[in-house]
Amino acid sequence: MNEAQGTNLDPWYSHYAERTAGLSASEVRALFAVASRPEVVSLAGGMPYVSALPQELIAGAVERTVRDHGAVALQYGSGQGTPRLREQILDVMALEGIRASVDDVVVTTGSQHALELMSKLFLDPGDVVIAEGPSYVTALTVFRSFQAEVVHTAMDADGLVPQALRETIARVRAEGRRIKLLYTVPSFQNPMGVTLSWQRRMEVLEIARDNDILVLEDNPYGLLYFDQAPPQAMRSVDEEGVVYLGTFSKTLAPGLRVGWAVAPHAIREKLVLANEAAILSPSSFAQTVISEYLSTADWRGQIDVFRGVYRERRDAMLSALAEQLPSLSWTVPNGGFYVWLSLPEHLDSKAMLPRAVKELVAYTPGTAFYSDGGGRNAMRLSFCYPTPDFIREGIRRLATVINGELALLSEFSQTGPLTVQPTREGVLPPNVG
Ligand SMILES: Cc1ncc(COP(=O)(O)O)c(C=O)c1O
Repeated sequence: MNEAQGTNLDPWYSHYAERTAGLSASEVRALFAVASRPEVVSLAGGMPYVSALPQELIAGAVERTVRDHGAVALQYGSGQGTPRLREQILDVMALEGIRASVDDVVVTTGSQHALELMSKLFLDPGDVVIAEGPSYVTALTVFRSFQAEVVHTAMDADGLVPQALRETIARVRAEGRRIKLLYTVPSFQNPMGVTLSWQRRMEVLEIARDNDILVLEDNPYGLLYFDQAPPQAMRSVDEEGVVYLGTFSKTLAPGLRVGWAVAPHAIREKLVLANEAAILSPSSFAQTVISEYLSTADWRGQIDVFRGVYRERRDAMLSALAEQLPSLSWTVPNGGFYVWLSLPEHLDSKAMLPRAVKELVAYTPGTAFYSDGGGRNAMRLSFCYPTPDFIREGIRRLATVINGELALLSEFSQTGPLTVQPTREGVLPPNVG
């Protein structure tokens, strides 16, 4: 038992299980508290813009769920999910080239829950998960909560770098450690916004096969492309070596909390058992609402609407960056929610955050997306939620902060540390550390 598992202000701190050591409030969580004030332009969270969803579509689906399917929708259901929704999920996945059978699909409480179930099935303390560097923050939290170690592997503008992956695997193996999963978000990655090319998808699958590593393909954003669709899902060409995760959170609404996993037969059986052990059955009500929505609304047209909304916001962010911060570099996403901004080497995005919040703009520091302290001079900027005008204003404020930091640093290099440090540390709000 160690101090990291709790503080002695909590009378139970010495009782927590060791696996809770990684459950400290993430930067993203702390940020939500500060950045949710209305005067702050938050480029921090990844909340879908659900206002673009016509309310009557959902209201109608809810009404029919109660009226026509109440006896089933208000009851416990199958631990694998309703056959009707699983059948409809096949149509959704067909858009990304995936052919599967209804039996292959397990419905979960969002894809976050599928990450938890997969971790429960595969990770023992000390096991290694290889993940993109940077990687989705709450996946890292889940892997760590099963006492696995996340080892990052490098990315570039085309996603995971295959040669770097080979080297990472060889290094981890040489240290005598056991690799259980390769976790990847191949399309419009969270947090970088980049997409793994088709050729690299094939290479990565081959590397995983050669090394007997199960691929965990997490794909919340693949249908939210702006110009060209991303390459087909990795699961479309490898049924045995990939567990695929999908969700209705970004193409419909996260409040419904419905996602799914598609897994090879034996893994799927275990996923269902783990699902039952955790929650008995996924929400019959939410599944029926989604089934009603999918069977009556133009859901493909609605995804087009979301694409249009996010494309306009992406464009607003990219043009504001080009205007306000022309000397920096950033990724150019062709879909999804995120831009990854690289800062000059000597700037620290986490240390700079209090000043940004003071200037009424928030972002997520790059370090949130690494398990090993990486990402210090980078940040994730989300364009999914604020309107284009707010995005432009947010980037203008961010530029003020970054340019101010650069000016301080140049003053620092001329006059020495004493004139600079109080200014940098003095504005830390209580819950941002
Ligand atoms: C890469 C990734 N995986 C999983 C999730 C969790 O999504 P869900 O709402 O389906 O649990 C998110 C949410 O932002 C995400 O970005």
